[in-house]
Amino acid sequence: MADTEIVEKYTPNFEAWVQDFTEWQTRIGFDPSWLGDYRFDIKFDWDTAGEKIEFGDFEGMPKWERRMQIPQQNIRDAIISMISVQGDTEFASVEQQNHLLATAPTEYDMKSALRIMCEEQRHGWQMAYVLCTYFGEQGVREASKLLERNAQDGTRILGSFNAPIDHWLDFFCFTHFIDRDGKYQLKMLSTSSFKPLAASMGPMLKEESFHLGTGANGLRRIVKQGVIPCELLQKYLNKWISTGLDLFGTDDSTSAQWAYVYGVKGRYDERESDVEADRAHLNEASRELYFQELREEMRRISAVRKEGEPELFIPSDKFNRGIGMYAGKNYTITGEKFDGSDEEYQDYLVSVLPTDEDEDKLMNDYMKKEWIQYREWKGKK
Ligand SMILES: [Fe+2]
Ligand SMILES: [Fe+2]
Repeated sequence: MADTEIVEKYTPNFEAWVQDFTEWQTRIGFDPSWLGDYRFDIKFDWDTAGEKIEFGDFEGMPKWERRMQIPQQNIRDAIISMISVQGDTEFASVEQQNHLLATAPTEYDMKSALRIMCEEQRHGWQMAYVLCTYFGEQGVREASKLLERNAQDGTRILGSFNAPIDHWLDFFCFTHFIDRDGKYQLKMLSTSSFKPLAASMGPMLKEESFHLGTGANGLRRIVKQGVIPCELLQKYLNKWISTGLDLFGTDDSTSAQWAYVYGVKGRYDERESDVEADRAHLNEASRELYFQELREEMRRISAVRKEGEPELFIPSDKFNRGIGMYAGKNYTITGEKFDGSDEEYQDYLVSVLPTDEDEDKLMNDYMKKEWIQYREWKGKK
């Protein structure tokens, strides 16, 4: 594995941004003293970033290392927008999650969540660094917007990054499903024609795998403990999975197609795949791989349930979608067209998604008990 270059010297643009960042931390309720000795390093892995553009219309040409090498303004804009969306999600998740540190079920969970929040801040920091260092005025503007939009005000770019994460079950669902989506996005950018972006992804992917692992592990420990019934857990799966699927974007997406043509964003399995990309259905292809992975993961999680508990499953990709060809259509969790009126469908949704009563029972009954398998913290106190 290649050594990661850690950049110590910042550009003046970025130094100004770092000031804003410190104010942002305090504003959103993340106490900087929680960082301990954690440092926000800028990490590039140039060796895995690739020398030549790997796909699309510029395939075989040297990857772009500076803004002026990018041949067209619209390609620059597309790159800036991708970096901005990525950075936006990183800071959003810290805004959504940091209040949970006070109610962690164990020290192990508190430390894991804190590590995740430190790393998400580093990811956002890295994206801001790339914007400020490589994209001049326009980049600086976008980098400051990363700290202006706010999940607590509902102004983050993507819907699920504005959704409140009220308790630790939502936290584990979020890390399992949404951080896993993040892994897909990062891997798709890891083959990018813009080299500083591609080189940022290796170190981010390594850190990201801890986040999804924390989610999968948390869900497994909850199922194993058997205090929260699987029937109730299933409702939370139903809630989060459609959100995760929506994050892959629209079907027949032209922006995904252009990103591919420019070599800016590849398929999830770009380097492993030996077939031509179906450029008209790029989002669908990545989403399908994600969906398969979710099903495999859920078989493992469900396998540890107590005797007599119903099997946990991944609902149909037609259910409760906000984006794509099933958006706004009435489908059941098992993927059948709902047989009934729109009103009846609303009643059906109430029966398969968490209600206020479910939330109340979860937080004020089950979570008052030993609801998650204990795990010892073995690191520093
Ligand atoms: Fe991240
Ligand atoms: Fe993450």
